[in-house]
Amino acid sequence: MDGNGRWAKKRFLPRIAGHKRGVEIVRDMVKECIELGVEYLTLFAFSSENWRRPPEEVSFLMGLFMAALKNEVSKLHQNDIRLIMIGDRSRFDAALLAEIDAAEKLTEANTRLTLTIAANYGGRWDMLQAVNRMLQAHPELAAHCDEQDLAPYLAMHYAPEPDLFIRTGGEQRISNFLLWQLAYTELYFTDTLWPDFDSKALNLAIQSFQQRERRFGRTSEQLISEHPKNEKLGHA
Ligand code: IPE
Ligand code: MG
Repeated sequence: MDGNGRWAKKRFLPRIAGHKRGVEIVRDMVKECIELGVEYLTLFAFSSENWRRPPEEVSFLMGLFMAALKNEVSKLHQNDIRLIMIGDRSRFDAALLAEIDAAEKLTEANTRLTLTIAANYGGRWDMLQAVNRMLQAHPELAAHCDEQDLAPYLAMHYAPEPDLFIRTGGEQRISNFLLWQLAYTELYFTDTLWPDFDSKALNLAIQSFQQRERRFGRTSEQLISEHPKNEKLGHA
C-alpha cells in the first residue's frame, strides 16, 4: 500500500491525512475481496525500514494501527474474517501487542477471508527467523534441510503462496515483502496511489492477472495438452 504521503501532498495536506484515507481504502478493499471470493488478503502496512521515518509519523502510524484494531475488530469478526499479524513484534508497545493478541484470538476460527497485516515485516527477517526457529527445534537439520522442513516456520505457513501481488504508487519493486512466498506470484504495478485505489483499480489488476499464463517452469504446449479445456492455468 504505497502513495499515502504523495496523495496528501498533492492536496496540500499533511502526510498523516493520506494515512487516514489509506485506512478507509483498507476497509473498502476487504469488502471488495469478500465480494470477489478472495480467501487470503495480505496487506503490507509497515515495513521494518519504516522506523527510519520521522518519529512523529511513526508514532502516528502506530496510533492509527491501534485505533483501527480497536474500531474494526468486532466488524471483522461479524463478517467471519480471520485477522493475523505477521512481522517482528519486538518493537511494539505492550498495549498494541495486547490488542493484536486479542484480535487474533477472537477471530482465529473464522474462515471466510484471512486478512493478514504485515507490520514491522521484512522478507529477509522472515527467512532468518524461520531458519533459526527450525534449527532450534531440529538441530540435526543444520547439515541439510529441504523446502518442506523450512515451510512450517515461515510467517505465512498457514496460507497458500500468493497468486497476485499488487503494488500501488508507481514504484516497481518488492521492497522486502514476502520474498520466499512471491517466487511464482504474478506481479502487478500501478501508478494509482493507495488512497485512490478503488474497485475499478482492483478489477484492472485482476484482469491483468487473468491474462497471464502461469507456466511454473513448463512450456505453453505442455499446459494445453494437460488441460485441454482451459487454455490457461491460474484463473481460479
Ligand atoms: C504508504 O504510503 C504507507 C506506509 C508505508 C505506512 P507512504 O507513506 O509510503 O506514501 P509516499 O510513498 O510517501 O507517497
Ligand atoms: Mg512510500
